[in-house]
Amino acid sequence: MSGAAGAGAGEPGLAGQTAPVERELDERARAVQPLAYAPYSRFPVGAAVRMDGKIYTGVNVENASYPLTVCAERNAIAAAVGDGARQLEALTVCTDASPPASPCGACRQVMLELAADPKAVTVTAINPQGERRAWTLAELIPFGFSGRELP
Ligand code: THU
Repeated sequence: MSGAAGAGAGEPGLAGQTAPVERELDERARAVQPLAYAPYSRFPVGAAVRMDGKIYTGVNVENASYPLTVCAERNAIAAAVGDGARQLEALTVCTDASPPASPCGACRQVMLELAADPKAVTVTAINPQGERRAWTLAELIPFGFSGRELP
């Protein structure tokens, strides 16, 4: 499958065919998805992010105290930041959902924090069946709050 196939023609706000296919990120996200710790939701999520030219991965880690759960995307970004990376370039998230599930609002906000140009960041959602959707980060979190708003 290429481009944003599976996105659905006419669906608003999709980067569509113009979004680059991040094949390596897609493969890495899919490869880590089975490592998710999701005994409560049984909804495993794998994420791969490219930051400062390097790829980092993460999975969702749940907790018996449910709100302590951390999403795959934020765990991948935390690994990158802990390695010294600062600039988000692209992210892929892999779930079993069909159509592929886009990142939650909290993760979008965390992505925005590290994106120099949200219009240039491709966010891709895939599933193991090969479906694929893609957006720019600007499409996923328009009018988001950033450090530029702070005094
Ligand atoms: N989850 C993620 O890892 N990323 C998202 O963007 C949405 C949700 C996780 C959290 C929880 O472990 C499970 O999926 C069900 O919400």
